[in-house]
Amino acid sequence: MSNVTVIGTQWGDEGKGKIVDWLASRADIVVRFQGGHNAGHTLVVGEQVYKLSLLPSGLVRGKVGVIGNGVVVDPHALMTEIDRVSAQGLVVNPETLWIAESAPLILPVHGALDRAREAARGDHKIGTTGRGIGPAYEDKVARRAIRICDLAEPETLDWKLDELLLHHNTLLAGLGADTFTKEEIKAWLAEIAPRLLSFACPVWDRLDEARRAGRRILFEGAQAVMLDVDHGTYPYVTSSNTIAAVAASGAGVGPSSIGFVLGIAKAYTTRVGEGPFPTELHDDIGRTIGERGHEFGTVTGRSRRCGWFDAVMVRRACRVGGVSGIALTKLDILDGLDEISICTGYELDGEKINFFPSAPGAQARVRPVYETMPGWQETTAGARSWAELPAQAIKYVRRIEELIEAPVTLLSTSPERDDTILMRDPFED
Ligand code: IMP
Repeated sequence: MSNVTVIGTQWGDEGKGKIVDWLASRADIVVRFQGGHNAGHTLVVGEQVYKLSLLPSGLVRGKVGVIGNGVVVDPHALMTEIDRVSAQGLVVNPETLWIAESAPLILPVHGALDRAREAARGDHKIGTTGRGIGPAYEDKVARRAIRICDLAEPETLDWKLDELLLHHNTLLAGLGADTFTKEEIKAWLAEIAPRLLSFACPVWDRLDEARRAGRRILFEGAQAVMLDVDHGTYPYVTSSNTIAAVAASGAGVGPSSIGFVLGIAKAYTTRVGEGPFPTELHDDIGRTIGERGHEFGTVTGRSRRCGWFDAVMVRRACRVGGVSGIALTKLDILDGLDEISICTGYELDGEKINFFPSAPGAQARVRPVYETMPGWQETTAGARSWAELPAQAIKYVRRIEELIEAPVTLLSTSPERDDTILMRDPFED
């Protein structure tokens, strides 16, 4: 019996929600270890649709949810989300939700700076969610973040806010944006502090206890490897590490606790925000995929850019992410296409290359090299076994496995939880 860590292998929105929900029903504890409320998971359970941004998906299954120290927490966004899902009948209290007392907070200054900087970037904007994620992580490594535990110490909060506001107000003023007073931020925090502190605890200690007791832990990644601040399409990335290795440091457990790494990949590719996307389709096929796949951002409502499956990108994500197996999602969206292409390499300035370059100029000039295969006319939606899949769809999945050099251990054929073909139970690995 093992723990499982789930990560995205493309640019996010791979359909992690459904897979995590399915795995959560087999776990005891579900842990978020990076990111913040820039993430968006939609879970469909019977008649209910849950939209989660910051809360771990396990809460929907009545499991313990954990927000680790690697997450950046906007306390007001968190409380709004707790109130919303509580109204839908979920039980969220200090027994079911544990939040690391050392998690850094996202404050109103962070959102303001995120948005002001994006506006100032003009053509080079990143397309962030505008939720202050980048500035909050910057404060963490710059050692000026306000952490949850600081809320219990008014004198600490006081001097830390002075330092933080000196930095942020200087930047905000320079960008022509409104600045903040200490009183404003203090009042904003005071409103939320007692409730937030009631969930705060030494998460590392509780997880260690759980591990010793043999409880199954699911680590739920947000965003994806191509948005990883080290391994993604920098600078068009998020500000956290999104690879599986970070589940350990972002939760406070040792690396051996990570267990089976399940990478989630969509049967095609999407991206929200700016940045390179070699296989992006600007034609009717791209529009059809977007419409059929309901490719609109959960958090910002932006249309997602759509394109063919990029095997070069996913192979790299599997390697740096330490992926043990892939869950391939949304295969049914490709039903009925005459032909389907897979990117198997790139061309850069007339040369063939089989990896994505690091420099932004080269990233923009890269052209995909495709392998094209016949599509299938039958429907794969709702299939629950290999036998129900058309031969051509099976060939497509097998070709992806070969190209990314990782096995497909799970196939998802609709948003419904049971429309899943399981080759291997990651928890039994
Ligand atoms: P940030 O995380 O708000 O700083 O945004 C940085 C980049 O990551 C932007 O391109 C966002 O669109 C993208 N991003 C952040 N979170 C997600 C997500 O959950 N799904 C897909 N893209 C995301």
